[in-house]
Amino acid sequence: MSKLTSEVKSDKKSLIINGERVETSSYTPLYSPYSGEEIAQIAAATKEQTYDAITVACKARSIIGKMTAFKRAEILENAASILKDKVDEAARIIALESAKPIAFAKAEVARTIETYKFSAEEAKRIHGETIPFDAAESGAGRIGYTVREPIGVIGAITPFNFPMNLVAHKVGPAIAAGNTMVLKPASQTPLSALFIAEVFEEAGLPAGVLNVVTGSGRVVGEAIVEDDRVNMITFTGSPSVGIGIRNKAGLKKTTLELGSNSALIIDKDVVVDTIIDRCIMGAFSNQGQVCISLQRVYVHEDVFEEFVSKFTEAAKQLKIGDPLNPETDVSALISKDDTDRALEWIAEAKEKAIIRTGGKLTEGVLEPTIITGAHSDLKVSCQEVFAPVVVVNKVKSVEEAVRCVNDSRFGLQAGIYTNNIKNALYATKELYVGGVIVNDVPTFRVDQMPYGGVKDSGTGREGVKYAVEEMTEMKLVVWNQSQE
Ligand code: SIN
Repeated sequence: MSKLTSEVKSDKKSLIINGERVETSSYTPLYSPYSGEEIAQIAAATKEQTYDAITVACKARSIIGKMTAFKRAEILENAASILKDKVDEAARIIALESAKPIAFAKAEVARTIETYKFSAEEAKRIHGETIPFDAAESGAGRIGYTVREPIGVIGAITPFNFPMNLVAHKVGPAIAAGNTMVLKPASQTPLSALFIAEVFEEAGLPAGVLNVVTGSGRVVGEAIVEDDRVNMITFTGSPSVGIGIRNKAGLKKTTLELGSNSALIIDKDVVVDTIIDRCIMGAFSNQGQVCISLQRVYVHEDVFEEFVSKFTEAAKQLKIGDPLNPETDVSALISKDDTDRALEWIAEAKEKAIIRTGGKLTEGVLEPTIITGAHSDLKVSCQEVFAPVVVVNKVKSVEEAVRCVNDSRFGLQAGIYTNNIKNALYATKELYVGGVIVNDVPTFRVDQMPYGGVKDSGTGREGVKYAVEEMTEMKLVVWNQSQE
């Protein structure tokens, strides 16, 4: 196993509540998903400690509530610039705890910086609108406007696949909007969240505004979701957990960014050579553990064989190995259970479809896997695979492709490559998803764009401005001018 990962020293990590490092009676070892070595000991919070964090977040509402937008923006800008000086350290943490190859981890840190910068900008433009009351007969003599107020205490539950930037998508807008938080990071990736909390301390965020409570979903997650003092839950993760949260959250606002089996349509007029690199990135970056990872490709029959052969050739060139090695393209999945599950689904596909490349482990890492001729009811097609596995199918027309894309319980993003404007317009109208990407893979995302899905892909939108909307309440103010 790699020397790079073996050089890590295991640290003990406490909870961060009210700016203090809080010990717990039990700690859980955290292992590198790649090498299996212990990289830290993580505090496992109790329900009582989670309630303490919520109490602190409730009290801190008045502190951040008094802060000007200018000051909130300044803290967010500070955080972005502190992080800019720590890119290598931050990327190493991501790579170690999640096995994200270091080059991609650095790209994630760059995006995280951008997300905080966008949040700083958004802090300065939170506003309502004036209402034309006299448009109703009984509204005569009234003037009024809306304001947007912080929603209050936000419970943020974040995933392992972008352990820094998807924390930023919750923490940045929450601070921009003047909220306080209890953050429960994914059990496999707590180090990135704890690191970010320290960045915010250095940036001048008052104690108690951002509290990080590590531990299990069953204990910490449930305590946050069920506590009536929490005003909103923002969750990114699997559909099954998301649905469970929705059922337990009562009347709290919930934003759920869940999974998908994202698809791409390739029309007959596309120059195949020009899209291979993007398709490789879309399908295999972060080992396919991206909610908008390219999982299904529907290719027009005229270019199908050419696409499959070039795509397969390119996938075979990807380098497998240690996430800390700058040459690595693909490393280990987040857990052995996930690797076993992906292998089982591939085994099911082997019976009924063709494995063009991959389908097995090298050094414990699942090889980039391309499958053709997979029927839509195979798990690699209809479930979210969250692994470096992609199915490529032949279609006769864009209309047929759109029907195949929509034949899914998910609907996050979809892509279409075409030079035919009518086909592009048809797809943008008919695809039932949260975002249609024309002439790129569905994996495209920048951090200021609205992001979220329909069907089992979730509810609500992220993307800084849109998350700020979700994290504020509209209040109406009406003045009766005719009152003596
Ligand atoms: C996700 O997996 O939902 C996030 C994808 C991204 O931010 O690129």
